[in-house]
Amino acid sequence: MLLQLLSVLWEALSLQVILVFLATFLLLSGYKSRPKDFPPGPIALPLLGNALSLDLKKTHLSVQKLSEKYGNVISLQFGNLWFVIVNGLHLVKEVLVHQGENFVDRPSVPLDDEVFKKLGLLFSNGPGWKQQRRFALSTLRNFGLGKRSLEERIQEESRYLTDAIEAENGQPFNPHFQINNAVSNIICSITFGNRFEYHDSRFQKLLKLLDEATYLQGSRGQLYDLFPTLMKHLPGSHQTILKNWEQLRSFVKEIIEEHKKDWNPSESRDFIDAYLNEMAKGDAAPSFHEENLLHSTQDLFFAGTETTSTTLRWALLYMAIYPEIQAKVQAEIDSVIGQSRQPAMDDRDSMPYTNAVIHEVQRISNIVPLNVPRMTTKDTIVAGFRVPKGTIMLANLTSLHFDKDEWETPNVFNPGHFLENGQFKKKEAFLPFSAGKRVCLGEQLARTELFLFFTALIQKFTFQAPKNETLSCEFRMGLTLSPLPYRICAFSR
Ligand code: HEM
Repeated sequence: MLLQLLSVLWEALSLQVILVFLATFLLLSGYKSRPKDFPPGPIALPLLGNALSLDLKKTHLSVQKLSEKYGNVISLQFGNLWFVIVNGLHLVKEVLVHQGENFVDRPSVPLDDEVFKKLGLLFSNGPGWKQQRRFALSTLRNFGLGKRSLEERIQEESRYLTDAIEAENGQPFNPHFQINNAVSNIICSITFGNRFEYHDSRFQKLLKLLDEATYLQGSRGQLYDLFPTLMKHLPGSHQTILKNWEQLRSFVKEIIEEHKKDWNPSESRDFIDAYLNEMAKGDAAPSFHEENLLHSTQDLFFAGTETTSTTLRWALLYMAIYPEIQAKVQAEIDSVIGQSRQPAMDDRDSMPYTNAVIHEVQRISNIVPLNVPRMTTKDTIVAGFRVPKGTIMLANLTSLHFDKDEWETPNVFNPGHFLENGQFKKKEAFLPFSAGKRVCLGEQLARTELFLFFTALIQKFTFQAPKNETLSCEFRMGLTLSPLPYRICAFSR
């Protein structure tokens, strides 16, 4: 009872109120200055650092404002962690590519460490990361990436998805979890060897847990990162995050156990089988063990579900908001593919407008606005500033995707950004998958899914706002920037 009361009180206090209270209290103990030759930034308070300089509901926009004031390389302190943020194409490429080796690690952040245990693909470092990444890339390739079998799987899943949307009969509906399920089924079939029906209540519940965990972790996990030892013992959103990840891991663990029962080394069905084979090899690298199998599989499931499905949800929203652009995509689909066959990857080169629309959705929705954090592996000079080993580095992708010098109308949805004389035009400042040694491992898979799912949906339906409802492009900040929940009508064509 007391715990419940505490929990309600805790949730009722906003992060800002708690931070102001602590800041006033801690101010009495004096300021902590920036390290020598460090990039500029706002004054950091003791212990809290610059937490009060950021609006945690739109951190990337606060960072944009601070960069306007302090320049292309800025530094911020959060708790006892120092961040350096670089802006603009030249510097982002400098840290991700030209000096990539010095920024290849992921930092230690308390909540991420608790969830990801520095294992798997996303948050591991050193030889373990290299081995897991190399293995995952080659196994994804063997199980379909870049092959026709993957295309066929996505085409088949597109049919399930369009059937499910057809069944909505043009009535307003929220497409969130149908899209999530369809996208997730692709990575599930590669990693687990099977897909899940859209009415499978257990799988739907898992997708909801994942969605909730990624939202809370990006929006409410900061107190835990500031005061991990204290927060561990207090109720609040961080406990939900930890509980949800635990349940997701149990789900993956169960699937691994089932695989072990009927594992046949001479016939690899999917990623888990291939990993079991690798573990059984006498000369396998030391990072191939059960815990890493669990974490690599979990990372593929998480990264392969959230990002692509969020992008597709943005895509439908933009199509409903810009009917004239949707009509142009439909005209291109009708002339290149028609209505009698499904879209295929070979069509993409003949569909510059559709391709430009997908790129523009990715640019403007900017779903990983500050990239996934990196950390310096040794003291490094960036634009004349000294960045010591162990500093967290954020490559500000927002600064590229909204750069006034790179885009004609940075704040307006405009497929023309990717077109020249009617042909598709690549842009250097477009880096939604990041770049360099840790570039998104699923880029090719994501690009294939985005083209095939999006084109199949727009081929079959016209998406519109429900009568008397206005659709908005407002975002919700979690680990990714996603649209606020919306309803839409899908009219069969
Ligand atoms: C539109 C979809 C996607 C976007 C925008 C996206 C974006 C990103 C970004 C920005 C990173 C961080 C790279 C860095 O640190 O420099 C990343 C990493 C990663 N992504 Fe994606 N991603 C997408 C889809 C996928 C898919 C479908 C998979 C599944 C295979 C995936 C798996 C990963 C993994 C495993 C990493 C960690 C790589 C590493 O640390 O070595 N992503 N992604």
